[in-house]
Amino acid sequence: MTSTQESIYSGLISDSFKLDGQVALVAGGYGGIGEALCLGLAQQGATVAIAGRSAEKSAALAGQLEASGFTAMGLSFDIKQPDQISSMVKQTVGESGRLDILVNCVGTHIEKPAEALTADDWDEVHDTNLRGAFLLSQAAGRQMIKQERGKQIHISSVRSLLGIRRGFAAYTSSKAGMNLLVKQLATEWAQYGINVNGIAPTFIRTELVRHYLEDEDFYNALVSRIPLTRVGEPFDIVGATVFLASPAADFITGQILFIDGGVTATQ
Ligand SMILES: NC(=O)c1ccc[n+]([C@@H]2O[C@H](COP(=O)([O-])OP(=O)(O)OC[C@H]3O[C@@H](n4cnc5c(N)ncnc54)[C@H](OP(=O)(O)O)[C@@H]3O)[C@@H](O)[C@H]2O)c1
Repeated sequence: MTSTQESIYSGLISDSFKLDGQVALVAGGYGGIGEALCLGLAQQGATVAIAGRSAEKSAALAGQLEASGFTAMGLSFDIKQPDQISSMVKQTVGESGRLDILVNCVGTHIEKPAEALTADDWDEVHDTNLRGAFLLSQAAGRQMIKQERGKQIHISSVRSLLGIRRGFAAYTSSKAGMNLLVKQLATEWAQYGINVNGIAPTFIRTELVRHYLEDEDFYNALVSRIPLTRVGEPFDIVGATVFLASPAADFITGQILFIDGGVTATQ
């Protein structure tokens, strides 16, 4: 019997959404979406390692979580540097003993018309969003293979599926690549008990997209196409992340869950 089955038969389905004793690494963890995910994962019982390029910001969020009674640590790394990725993962395992959950919230975007996008712009976005996602998954995956279990969740985007009338060529293509990376890794690593999934949000109110949402014409046009008639907030991503990280999702892998107010369900 799986732990989820046991929970259901003992009348405690909520137990299968708990993360007690698990170690979660949230890359991009002090970003707009990442911070909400760190809080959610910690509240479900996980020890949370927070990582971005700023050691200070990681430490500050870890300190806030610790002050609220959770277990957290702050780390720093640059996802474009393979050696920094592997030492950051090693540090997480060294301090916490294991790595059960990887959440990748690292992302960047350079808006330029396709005809003006340079090779360097393209590399900056793809090296961060796609090459980085692979190298991070690989470093975490090597540890998870040893443990014969693990959950990986990559934050993709509605823009992995839909173009947009702005200069998003590098971003959309990097996120589309991420979706197939998720499916490939899920297929390849299922034998090791590793689940790999993606979450694809529409516009979520964070610093990354604040300037778009402050543009009234853009905002109104955007929301008019979203059946649930609003953009997302970081907390809209928390439930799905906790779910995909938990034993309740043990039989789910290779999926991209669109959290988009219904925009990809319509024209
Ligand atoms: N907000 C949206 O509307 C939206 C919609 C769909 C998908 N997404 C995706 O969701 C994820 C999080 O987005 P967000 O809105 O929360 O953005 P955000 O607030 O800008 O957070 C991005 C995080 O990634 C980190 N990061 C960026 N470059 C890095 C690098 N080279 N190495 C290590 N860390 C790096 C940032 O920290 P540092 O810069 O300090 O390193 C930050 O913690 C991204 O993948 C984004 O594409 C966002």
